[in-house]
Amino acid sequence: MFLRSKPHRTGAPLRKAVTPSSPEQALPVDDESRLSLLKEFTDLPDQEAPLLSPGLEEMLGQLILERKQAERLVAAGLVPTRSAIFVGQPGLGKTLTARWLASQLGVPLYVLDLTAVMSSLLGRSGNNLRAALDFAKQRPCVLLLDEIDAIAKRRSDDSDVGELKRLVTVILQEVDEWPSTGVLLAATNHPELIDPALWRRFDLVVEFKTPEPVAVKEAIKRFLGPDFALFARWVDILTFAFRGQSFSDIGREIQRFRRAVALGTAPDVDLIEEFIKARALSLDRQGRIDMAVLLAKQTRLSQHSISDITGVSRDTIRKYTTDGPAVVPKKRRREG
Ligand SMILES: Nc1ncnc2c1ncn2[C@@H]1O[C@H](COP(=O)(O)OP(=O)(O)OP(=O)(O)O)[C@@H](O)[C@H]1O
Ligand SMILES: [Mg+2]
Repeated sequence: MFLRSKPHRTGAPLRKAVTPSSPEQALPVDDESRLSLLKEFTDLPDQEAPLLSPGLEEMLGQLILERKQAERLVAAGLVPTRSAIFVGQPGLGKTLTARWLASQLGVPLYVLDLTAVMSSLLGRSGNNLRAALDFAKQRPCVLLLDEIDAIAKRRSDDSDVGELKRLVTVILQEVDEWPSTGVLLAATNHPELIDPALWRRFDLVVEFKTPEPVAVKEAIKRFLGPDFALFARWVDILTFAFRGQSFSDIGREIQRFRRAVALGTAPDVDLIEEFIKARALSLDRQGRIDMAVLLAKQTRLSQHSISDITGVSRDTIRKYTTDGPAVVPKKRRREG
């Protein structure tokens, strides 16, 4: 159900595939600071695919197919999808997916961080924006305009309004004129700040949502990597405890567990107990009961410990566990 991946590369960091650009291809820089305006990523196509919802996976699969069979589309008088806007909370894979997409298309990804552009003097940010876009337009690539809401955020400062309007106009034109040799992506955590005129211009809107339990479980397995066996008995509990969290939150927590186990600073059972105890604090009463029931059924923890971890009384735990699973309220049953 997830995009096909190459298991033999599991856990390998995204690697540079080619040597840095030759001088005539040097990345554009800010005139004053000499800092590069674009970040370049050139990854091999055998990267493990990001975990994506089935709908998203299909959308991106179609985009890749269109690019790979662009000639057929052109022969039919059509053009492949040129642009897309990625929307979603932090840590759900917007940047990762842009990188993966470029690797699948065999082209580099250039990332323009609009917050960085906007933090330069406004007079310069227009030039910087144009220089970055011109560079990207001249070669087959994926260009990601990261944090595209940065321009909108700046709007509060009255004195800048004229210049900001010009910047928005530049972007609007660029999206319209973007050549089909490249893919123009934008990413935002704040869709409500995006100018409707800009919004309309993207061919695709790709929504990244907090993962469903099945994807959470998959992420736990992936992030555990070679330590999976050690934590296997906790996977269902962790899947429950991580609900509503982003992939990057899950990844960070699991890396912490793995480091502690590698250094022998804490046994897995202590790590998990401490973690779920902290997570239980953010659950409502029913959530804590569900967690207690899961712990009672899947672990050898005593009712006393479970009560201590979840804050659910032993009486309640007993009530919910002695009568079997039928007692777990119906609407909750899927989430465990
Ligand atoms: N869909 C995913 N599949 C696998 N790993 C993921 C996924 N999403 C996030 N991660 C993990 O979290 C890290 C951060 O993700 P990423 O930078 O792509 O998030 P983002 O959506 O771009 O967040 P932000 O809005 O903060 O820029 C990734 O490097 C990866 O380790
Ligand atoms: Mg990002």
